[in-house]
This record gives sequence, C-alpha cells and structure tokens, in this order.
Amino acid sequence: MFLGVLFLLWICVAGIQCDLKNQEDQVLGLKIDPGSQSVYLNLLQQLEQCNDIKKVDLADHIYYRLGLIYLIENQEWKAVGSFEKVRKDQGGVSDSTGKHLHKLYLKFGIWSKLSNDDEAKNQYLNLNSSKVQTIENINEMLDIAPYDYHARSLMRAELLKRLKEELDISAGQMFVSNSEIILDKHTTKLSLAQRLSLHYEAAVIQMFAVNSIPTHLRKCLAVDMDHEPCKKLMLFNTRLGKINPARSQMLDREMYAFGDESIDWNKVVNFYFKDKKPCTKLPPNYKFESNYKLIERVVQEALEQIIGPVRGKRPDFLKFIDSVLCQAGSQAPNNKKLTSPICKRLVKDILTADEHKEIHKAAIQGEQLSEDLLEKLWSSSPNLAMYVVEGIISKAGKKSPGLQDQIANFFKHHKLFNSNNRYVKTQSNSINNLIQRRQQQNQQRQRQQQEWFFRQQQQQQQRYQPPPPPLHTDKDYYKILNIPKNADTKEIRKAYLNFTKMYHPDKQGQLSEEQQKKNDEKMSEINEAYETLSDEGKRREYDMARSGQYGAGPGGMPNEGSGMFGQRGNPFQFNQNFKFNFGF
Ligand SMILES: *[C@@H]1O[C@H](CO)[C@@H](O)[C@H](O)[C@H]1NC(C)=O
Ligand SMILES: *[C@@H]1O[C@H](CO)[C@@H](O)[C@H](O)[C@H]1NC(C)=O
Repeated sequence: MFLGVLFLLWICVAGIQCDLKNQEDQVLGLKIDPGSQSVYLNLLQQLEQCNDIKKVDLADHIYYRLGLIYLIENQEWKAVGSFEKVRKDQGGVSDSTGKHLHKLYLKFGIWSKLSNDDEAKNQYLNLNSSKVQTIENINEMLDIAPYDYHARSLMRAELLKRLKEELDISAGQMFVSNSEIILDKHTTKLSLAQRLSLHYEAAVIQMFAVNSIPTHLRKCLAVDMDHEPCKKLMLFNTRLGKINPARSQMLDREMYAFGDESIDWNKVVNFYFKDKKPCTKLPPNYKFESNYKLIERVVQEALEQIIGPVRGKRPDFLKFIDSVLCQAGSQAPNNKKLTSPICKRLVKDILTADEHKEIHKAAIQGEQLSEDLLEKLWSSSPNLAMYVVEGIISKAGKKSPGLQDQIANFFKHHKLFNSNNRYVKTQSNSINNLIQRRQQQNQQRQRQQQEWFFRQQQQQQQRYQPPPPPLHTDKDYYKILNIPKNADTKEIRKAYLNFTKMYHPDKQGQLSEEQQKKNDEKMSEINEAYETLSDEGKRREYDMARSGQYGAGPGGMPNEGSGMFGQRGNPFQFNQNFKFNFGF
C-alpha cells in the first residue's frame, strides 16, 4: 500500500517519461505473492503511459507474475485473463504461460482454445457425446475438466435425481459442493438471480437434507440482503435454533450421560405441540394445527421446490427434530403420550430394516442383539439407544437372562450405572432389579432341588430299609447333627442338608475306598439322627428316653441296652413328661 502511494507520487513528479530500467529492477525485486499484487497493477498503469516500445517485454513479465498470483489466490478465471495478455511465441515467459493456459483451458472446458489433436479434449468430447450420461461418465468428464460448466450442470441434474430417489446425506453434500464450484469458478458468468438461487438452493439442501449449518444463507444475504426466500429461511433457522438443543447435546454420548441437564424439555414440547402461534409464515390456504406439522410442511415444500416430489425417506432435519422430541419425552415423562409415536417412527427411520427386525426379535422373543448394534445406536443417537433398551427390558427382556446380561455389560462398559441422566438411571434400575430378582429365583430353585434330592433319599431309605432304624438312645443325635438340643425343625433340616451336601455321592469320586466307607457310615449315622429328630413323635420319644434314663441329661454314661424305647410306643402317653423336659 505504502509503495503504491509512493509510485503514484513518482508518476506525478516524473510525468510521462518512463524509466524502464528502474521499473524492471523494481519488478525483479518484488515477490510473487498476493501482497505485491497492487504494486504490479500500478506498474502496469505506469507502463500504459509510457512510450518506450520495449515496454511490452516488461508488461509480459508483469502479466505472467500477476497470473501466478491469481493462481495462488484460487482466482483461476482472472489468471486466464492475465496469462492471455502475455504475447505468445516471444520466448521469455511465454513458454511457461502457454503451459499454464493449457491447464486452465482444460479445467474450465474452454475447448475452442485447445487444438483438435489434444488428447484430453478428445477424451472429454467422446464422453460428452455419450447418449446416456451416467454419474461415472460425468465424473470422468470432471476429472478432465473440473470447472467445466456443462459437466457441473450435468452433475447437478444427476444429484437432484438421486436426492429425489432418496434424501441421501452424501448426495446432499455433493450437491452443495457442486454448487459451490459453479458459484466460485463462474461468478462472472452468472446473473445475480442465478447466484442468489444457487445459494438459496444450497442452503435448503444444507439445512434440511444434510442437517448441517446452512452457510449459504449468509452468503445469499451477502449478495442481496433483501432476497425474500433467503430472508425467510434465515428467520426460520434462527427461530428453531433457539428452541432445539445444540446438536452436540443431542448426539454426544458423554454429554448425554454425564453432562448437566439444563434443557427445559417442557418448553421444547410446548413449542412443537401446544403453541398456538405459528413459528413461520403459513403457506397459502394452510390451517395451522401445531408447529410440528407446520415445520414438516415447510420443509417438504422447500425441498420439493428444488428436487420435485420426494418419495424416499424423511429429511434428516425432521429426524433431528423427532429425536429432540423423543428425548424430551424420555426426560420429562409427562410428555410421553405426545412423543412416543415419534420415537417409534424414529427407530424405523434411523435403523436399517434388518436392524429393526433384530430389535423386534429381542423385544418379542428375547433373542440377544448382535454385538455392535447397541454400540452403533449409542454412538449415533444415545437417547434412541436407551429407548431401545427400555423397549427390550420391558418386554421379552424380562425373561431373557442373556439379554439382561448383555445390556448390563453394555451399561458397565460405558459406566452408565453412574450416569446422572434420569432416563439412563431409570433403565439402570430396571436392569439391576431384573438381575437381582433372577438371582433370588435361582437361589430358591437351588433350595427346591436340594429338598427334592432329600425327599428322594428319604423315599429310597423307606423303600429299601423296610424296618425303621432302631432308636439308639446311646447316640447323641444332636451332636451328630451339630445342633443345639432346642433346635427347631428348620434348623434340623438345614443341618441335615448341609451334611448331605458334604457327603453327596457326586463329591466322593476321588476318595479312597476306606474313606468312602467311613463317609458312608457317617452318613448313615446322620440319616438316622435326622430320621429321628425330624419326626416330632420319634424325637419326643428319644428325648424322653435319654432324659428319663440319665436324669440330668448330657454327660451321663451311655446306656448300652436299647431300653424301654426299643419298641415304638404311643408317643402321646409321654406328653406330660415331654413338657417338663422341654427347653434344656
Ligand atoms: C456436450 O454435449 C452437449 C449436449 O449433448 C452439447 O450441447 C455440448 O455442445 C457438448 N459440448 C461440447 C464441447 O461438444
Ligand atoms: C455345615 O457343616 C460344616 C462342617 O461340619 C460346619 O462347619 C457348618 O457350620 C455347617 N453349617 C450349617 C449351616 O450347619
């Protein structure tokens, strides 16, 4: 800048007289970078007023350098203009200039400037003459001539077709970058209206199909701040930006599970379903029901205006709003009635048909999910993952230990048992409860099995040892069972089961024969003790006999004979005595 002013001064002082030598020195001293651009332009202006015939050599040099600077600035079209000013076949810079121009003519598809035996040109023309333009064809044309307006227009038409088939995000992104190249490389070729409409359409696709920040809205308004469609879309975008939580809050799993809950979900639900005031201008003849319905309509109309009737999926923008509402319902359950149909549809919209089937099977038949399905859901839409978990554990998951463990492991892996999100907490509790209940049931089943085992044994003994074992009053059955004298039936049974477990035949495989025999003896002793003590009548008899014979009870000498209780008598006749002896 400073130099520029200096040169202007110099012109005023020195007049039209030119000092080529001096100017040449200046050019040689300047760098080829955008910062020197204005100095080169000033020098060119000086040269115009100069009468020296030799000035054209210096001008060639300056135009060449300016061309290179435009290339650095990605202003290829300007570079073409500058390079074209350099005289051809003059030696010096004209050779390099020719090479640059050839490349640029190809990039822009300026075929008339290229010779007829140019290989790349003929390749392009060949592709261009094909009757049906497939996307591969067009891509090959763009490989040769990336800025070619015709090929870019073909690409645009092809992408619109694809978007119409299915509102595919990647097709949307390609559509936007295709428009950007047209806008960037052909600005001068486009009318104002064309530029505005390219910006507007790119913004609609960015916002509704790709669900990204519509950067082209600002660019559109920079071209014309009163352009009605862009203005309207900007207001709409700003309004919804104030209602919807940030994308990160919706999609970031850490934030979802461990962030602080500062979103007013009731406000969100009210805006979409209860507000009586439309959030944007109503379409003609439209009867307002809710902002949710209105937004669906506005999005659909904006898209259809560009790509025609949309057959395929729901636009990503609406899926995002659906996931906001689904989350609102799970965080503020009083809204569930309104939001649960939205959650249901969202699951269908987001998952592939196969994934949806898999979740259905889990919920209905209790089948386990494949390894990565929950993970995938969790990383793409955490709330939806929790929604699916809730669906599964409230249905077949209740009865499927495999599913319960799978979900519990998933929670453990992501530390979700410590989440402070209330919906996640609810699911953690449900899973924990299910697993606890299962453990209790298992314990109960084990107990039942033991009892069954014991009953079997009892029956066998009754079957194979018809004469009941004699009452050995010389043996201390209480000691054998290792229980106090006042043990109740429950304790007796418990002690007995404990022994049967210890001496269970399955556990005796490794024992020596001698040891086994010992165990058998011990077991038969235990059986005998139990047989007597578990039968109220026999126990009474036994207690009576032992106390009657030895008076003060334990510590007395064992009686070798069978005594009067060798035969079984009527237990009731000892009723009185029993009462006396009770409790030692
Ligand atoms: C490419 O094909 C289109 C349509 O077939 C035609 O209008 C255009 O002139 C062709 N371009 C060239 C450079 O031949
Ligand atoms: C089970 O038997 C073992 C070994 O005799 C004993 O240490 C334990 O206290 C018993 N348990 C019960 C509940 O009787």
